[in-house]
Amino acid sequence: MSGIPHDHYEPKSGFGKWLDKRLPVVGLLYDTLMIPTPKNLNWWWIWGIVLTFCLVMQIVTGIILVMHYTPHVDMAFASIEHIMRDVNGGHMLRYVHSNGASLFFVAVYIHIFRGLFYGSYKAPREVTWIIGMLIYLMMMATGFLGYVLPWGQMSFWGATVITGLFGAIPFIGEGLQTWLLGGPAVDNATLNRFFSLHYLLPFVIAALVAVHIWAFHTTGNNNPTGVEVRRGSKEEAEKDTLPFWPYFVIKDLVGLGIVLIIFFAIVGFMPNYLGHPDNYIEANPLATPAHIVPEWYYLPFYAILRAFTADVWAVQAVSFLTGGIVDAKFFGVLAMFGAIFVMALAPWLDTSSVRSGQYRPAFKWWFRLLVIDFIVLMWVGARDTNFPHDWISLIGATYWFAYFLVILPLLGLFEKPTTPPATIEEDFKAHYPGAAE
Ligand code: HEM
Repeated sequence: MSGIPHDHYEPKSGFGKWLDKRLPVVGLLYDTLMIPTPKNLNWWWIWGIVLTFCLVMQIVTGIILVMHYTPHVDMAFASIEHIMRDVNGGHMLRYVHSNGASLFFVAVYIHIFRGLFYGSYKAPREVTWIIGMLIYLMMMATGFLGYVLPWGQMSFWGATVITGLFGAIPFIGEGLQTWLLGGPAVDNATLNRFFSLHYLLPFVIAALVAVHIWAFHTTGNNNPTGVEVRRGSKEEAEKDTLPFWPYFVIKDLVGLGIVLIIFFAIVGFMPNYLGHPDNYIEANPLATPAHIVPEWYYLPFYAILRAFTADVWAVQAVSFLTGGIVDAKFFGVLAMFGAIFVMALAPWLDTSSVRSGQYRPAFKWWFRLLVIDFIVLMWVGARDTNFPHDWISLIGATYWFAYFLVILPLLGLFEKPTTPPATIEEDFKAHYPGAAE
């Protein structure tokens, strides 16, 4: 499967040979587990395993929760309370699942920013990147659908606000919104279809993850230097790599263990820290909460959505040019999805010949600013829209687009990168002079 030369599985027993001719599944597992992996990977590379673990954990806890949950507007809220109070270990199950969604997003953001820094999105890993972006979109959708299920005040009003965004699309918006909701407002039909899709999407994500892994096993992993594994011969490749098992499996499990210690401390001691107290009030279509705030992981993009108000000249210009079809609300929706779209285009917007940010002195500063920008957007996304929050979100949103559309393309043309090591082996030896060959 991999382009890096290495030993392949040779069946030894009679049954092994028989099966291999018919279904080479053992060979596939062997190749996956023994895949040559750059030996200089650092700790930023553990998050793929954390993500895989999160996906499994969410599916397993979710399936058990469903055994006790009732997707009906009259019973959903009570069925969650039933899980919390009556079901054996139910409160734990629920808190692992709800905080598990947060861990999933912590991991995916670190994973994405790791990719952005080390240039993992660049050729030949564009397909891995694009599949990753699709997974990320699916995760966003799954999280949103799941948040509606407890049928609390934030569930109901969050669903009302977010599905209202579709209503902003010119001409088809209203019809589309009604179709999505299964009626004129968020109600039982909405809860039922959201439940159905919330159950389905994690399996779509699982399928996409398999393709994601297939894609980077085809190209080989990137690594902190961005220098490719030598592929001339097996001997050369072996100087740059180590088999995934046992070296990286053990390392990843140590990383996962530390992450899980922190995770379970939060689940055990402060399980509602990231939640909103209003979601412990049953949904009431007649009482709008004072502040409708999305979950923390949506906040950066929610801030971008709200940044473009009718006062912004760019919004006015676009509105004028389109004869009013693109109004402030629709502009905001386009900006929100556009912010993810420009990130997906990074492989084609980054013009630098050097892959890893480690050897790009100017890039490093712009990248740090992007990380700060992301955190500031997350902070401001939970604030009201008065001054100075309106300005902060506008500047933050502008920088996000500028980074991908202007800075990445121009940096590659003007920046003077330093020289990366010639091989991964050289980098490894520089870090671990005493390591065995
Ligand atoms: C359920 C979600 C995901 C899972 C389970 C997952 C899993 C993995 C795994 C196991 C790796 C191997 C290296 C590592 O551990 O870091 C990897 C690499 C990678 N992922 Fe993901 N991923 C997910 C989402 C994403 C997303 C949202 C993106 C961003 C668009 C992304 C982009 C990448 C890239 C570019 C690589 C290649 C890095 C390299 O070659 O070292 N992934 N992914």
